[in-house]
Amino acid sequence: MKIVLEHITKRYPNRDKKRGGEVVAVDDFHLTIPDGKLIGLLGPSGCGKSTTLNMICGLESPTEGHIYFGEEDVTDLSPELRGVGMVFQSYALYPHMTVRQNIMFPLENRKKDERLPKEEMLRKAEEAARLVQIENLLDRKPSEMSGGQQQRVAIARALVKEPRVLLLDEPLSNLDARLRLSTREEIRRIQRETGITTVFVTHDQEEAMSISDEIVVMEAGIIRQKGHPQDIYDEPANLFVAKFLGTPPINVFEARAEAGRVYIGDACVMRAPDVADGPLTVGVRPEGFVPCADGPLACELVAVERMGRDTSIVARHRAHERGQIRTIVGSDVRFDATADEVRFSFKPAKTHLFDAATGERIHADATPVTGNGAAHA
Ligand SMILES: Nc1ncnc2c1ncn2[C@@H]1O[C@H](COP(=O)(O)OP(=O)(O)OP(=O)(O)O)[C@@H](O)[C@H]1O
Ligand SMILES: [Mg+2]
Repeated sequence: MKIVLEHITKRYPNRDKKRGGEVVAVDDFHLTIPDGKLIGLLGPSGCGKSTTLNMICGLESPTEGHIYFGEEDVTDLSPELRGVGMVFQSYALYPHMTVRQNIMFPLENRKKDERLPKEEMLRKAEEAARLVQIENLLDRKPSEMSGGQQQRVAIARALVKEPRVLLLDEPLSNLDARLRLSTREEIRRIQRETGITTVFVTHDQEEAMSISDEIVVMEAGIIRQKGHPQDIYDEPANLFVAKFLGTPPINVFEARAEAGRVYIGDACVMRAPDVADGPLTVGVRPEGFVPCADGPLACELVAVERMGRDTSIVARHRAHERGQIRTIVGSDVRFDATADEVRFSFKPAKTHLFDAATGERIHADATPVTGNGAAHA
């Protein structure tokens, strides 16, 4: 089922009486979610992820805008009639019911004339349990299960109604690291198997990147960028998105452009003939640093961490936002790990320029330079 969110805005009255006014939780959110895809809604706490999800499922109604499932305008349709399955961070299972009863609950709860025969409900509950691989736990109570198993019950309960749309709000946050990993793979498998259009909310960029066909990055109610996870990582539209995706995070330097060259401190690190003179911000991914004896950026070498396949070089530079640079280089890259200084040049595809004032990406041809000013391959 294709979902269209047409210029959705949600305003709440501000509870803080002194300040009054309104809180804009979601601001002109415009998005088409293609049929059968899994969309990751990603952003920091308070950016409006849950509010958006709640408007799709009908728990909240938008102040402005319309929501369509396929061609049907569902903006004013009640949640029960939308055909959505919802899974929350707290699994919200009924503790006194068995797993089977919990999964069957949405079917039993239907109006009398829509209720299926008992055997049919049991069959559907077992089918949903099989899909999430808990068919051997149907007689247990929730308290007798692990967090990951309980979350599977919650997913089965959302799937049993054969929803048109599946909505998951931080479904993995209560699980430990290992369970998070296996459960997210499980969600991906279930989504592929059922082909249900799914929206997955998380503030964990790695989780969103790994599971989604497309991600939507939000900040303060606004969509900052949407697209394929790898494309967003490789081509961030602004500094916010660049910083939000990737671990270790992108390295951010205060810089300036002068006569077609980009300087970090005194070091000329790039030729960028089309960039106007003035302050700007340079972002370099950890894997974008090349240690080399004639690299333009001289840094104080702090630590070298060998991690098998990769080596992490920790270095210090005054113009770095956090003071400390963290790079990832291949373990076969040669450099003097005992020296006090390490020099870097930058890989062009891993280096981005941003407007110092707005944080918007500056798209310009930029060629890294080596210490003697020659263009670097
Ligand atoms: N019922 C409400 N009344 C007033 N303000 C609200 C209400 N619900 C949410 N907000 C505000 O709207 C903004 C978005 O909230 P929302 O819960 O959608 O964020 P979120 O991205 O899901 O955050 P988190 O990651 O912490 O769950 C926040 O500033 C929040 O305080
Ligand atoms: Mg939330």
